[in-house]
Amino acid sequence: IRLYVPRDSVAEGLGAAAVAQALEEGAARRGQVVRIIRTGSRGMLWLEPLVEVETPEGRIGYGPVRPADVEGLLAAGLLDGAAHPLRLGPPEALPWMARQTRLSFARCGLIDPLSLEDYRAAGGLAGLEAAIAAGPEATVDAVKLSGLRGRGGAGFPAGIKWNTVRLAEADRKYVVCNADEGDSGTFADRMLMEGDPFTLIEGMVIAGLATGATKGFIYLRSEYPLAAGILGQAIGIGRDAMVLGPSVLGSGQAFELELRIGAGAYICGEETSLLESLEGKRGVVRAKPPLPAIQGLFGRPTLVNNVLTFAAVPWIMARGGEAYAALGMGRSLGTLPVQLAGNVRHGGLLELPFGITLRELVEDLGGGTRSGRPVRAVQVGGPLGAYFPASMLDLPVDYEALAAAKGLLGHGGIVVFDDGVDMARQARFAFEFCAAESCGKCTPCRIGAVRGMETVDKVIAGHHPQQDLALVHDLCEVMTDGSLCALGGLTPLPVLSAIHHFPEDFTPRAQQPV
Ligand code: NAI
Ligand code: SF4
Repeated sequence: IRLYVPRDSVAEGLGAAAVAQALEEGAARRGQVVRIIRTGSRGMLWLEPLVEVETPEGRIGYGPVRPADVEGLLAAGLLDGAAHPLRLGPPEALPWMARQTRLSFARCGLIDPLSLEDYRAAGGLAGLEAAIAAGPEATVDAVKLSGLRGRGGAGFPAGIKWNTVRLAEADRKYVVCNADEGDSGTFADRMLMEGDPFTLIEGMVIAGLATGATKGFIYLRSEYPLAAGILGQAIGIGRDAMVLGPSVLGSGQAFELELRIGAGAYICGEETSLLESLEGKRGVVRAKPPLPAIQGLFGRPTLVNNVLTFAAVPWIMARGGEAYAALGMGRSLGTLPVQLAGNVRHGGLLELPFGITLRELVEDLGGGTRSGRPVRAVQVGGPLGAYFPASMLDLPVDYEALAAAKGLLGHGGIVVFDDGVDMARQARFAFEFCAAESCGKCTPCRIGAVRGMETVDKVIAGHHPQQDLALVHDLCEVMTDGSLCALGGLTPLPVLSAIHHFPEDFTPRAQQPV
C-alpha cells in the first residue's frame, strides 16, 4: 500500500515526519506493509499534513493529520480509503484544486521530489528533449511566443531577455536563478524547489543551452534550509543522469549547476546585488546599465530569472509557446502561481491563468478571513506592493490592471488583513522595512526611509497631521524619483496607497472613532 506524506517545510513544521513515522509503525502493528512516499505539498496549507493513500479509486486525502490522529485513522480503515471525519476524498476534486491550471506545479505534491524516474514518468524532461531538438534560436522563439514575463515581479518579457543573452558575444556566459524569495506572503519558489526541484533544474538547463551559457547558479535564501538540502541532492542526481554535465542528455552541449546560499539580506533579491553577492562581495546594488544580460556575473552576459520563470519553461517547450499564450489575458499570458497568506481562512498556493479577481481569490477560494471579521485590506506584491481596500476586490490579477490601480503584481503574494488593521502602522512598517533592508547606496532610500518612519510617527502623534502628511508625500516623491532600485523606489507604493485608501487611519489617534 502506498501512502503519500509531504516533506515540504510547512508540513514538516506541523509534524509531517512524526505522522509518517506513526503511520509506518501503526501499519506494521497491523501486519500491513506500507510504502511511504514523501512528496512536496499540494499547496492547501490549512490541510497540512495532508496524507494520501493510493486506492483502486485513485488517491484519497486525509487532513490535517496530527500524529495523535494516526491510530484512529488506521482503526477507521485509512489504508482502504475508508470514511473518517478527516477524509477529504480525491484531492483533485477539492474546489481549491479543481479551479487551478497547474502547469509549473503539475507534479508538486504528487511525486517524490528526488525521484528522477517519477519525474520523467510524469512528463519531466520532455521540454529539455524538445529544446535540444529545436536548437537555441527556436527555443528562444518559443519562449517569446509564449508571452512569458519575468515572474520575480518586474514582468519583463523573458524571451527578449533570453535573446539578449543569446546574441551577446563572450568567452563565457552564465544563467542565474534568483531564489532569494524575500517578499512577505510569498512561498511559491520554496514550494517548487522542495516539491519538484527537477522542474527548476530542467528550466535552467534549457536556458543554458538556448543562451550559450555553460554554467548556472541558484542563489537561494538562507532561510530555506530544507529547499537547500533537496536542491543539493537533486543537482547530484541530475549530474549522475546526465541532465547536467559535459554532455546534457548526450547532446554534446555542456551545462553545470551550482547552489549558493545567501546570507539573509532582502536586497540580494535585487538582481545586481545578487550578482555582487555571488561574486563574494557585499550585496550592494549596481547601477543599470549595463544590464546583467550584457555585463552581469564576473562581467559576462548573464541571464537572471526567478525560480517561477525558469519553472514555466519546460511546459512551454514540451507543449509549445502558443499553448501557453492561449491562457491568461491581454499582455499577461500563461499562468501565475498566486500565494494567499495573512489573515485568511484557507491560505496556500494556487496556479491560475491571469485574470482571476482578488475577490474570487480572497473570498471564494480563501474563504475570507481566518478571524471571521470583514476583510479590510489586501496587500498585493509583497512589502513594496499597494494596499487595496475591500471595495477594490474586483480588480483582476494581471500586470496591467494592478499597475493601472497604482499597485503591482510583484511575485504574486497576497496578504489579507481584517478590520483590526491599523493602516498608519502599516505605512510606518513600509518605511521601517526599507530602512532595515536598504543597501545604503543612495540617499533617498537610506535616509528617506528613516525620516519617513519618524514622520509617520508624528502623523500618528497628531500634533500637525496635515503638515506631516504633506511631508510624507514630498518624501515619497523624492524616493520614487531618486532611488537607484525598486526597494527605495517602490516603498512609497504601500505608504501612499494606505494614505489614499484609508485616510481615516491617518487622523490623530484621539479623534479616531473607537
Ligand atoms: P527592472 O524593470 O529594472 O528589470 C526587470 C528585468 O528585466 C531585469 O532582469 C533587467 O535586467 C531586465 N531588462 C530590462 N530591460 C532589458 C532589456 N532591454 N534587455 C534585456 N533585459 C532587460 O526591474 P527590477 O529592478 O529587476 O525588479 C523590480 C521588481 O522586482 C519590482 O517590480 C518588484 O515587484 C519585484 N520584487 C520582487 C521581489 C521578490 O521577492 N520576488 C522582492 C522585491 C521586489
Ligand atoms: Fe540601495 Fe535603497 Fe538605493 Fe536600492 S534604493 S540602491 S536598496 S539605497
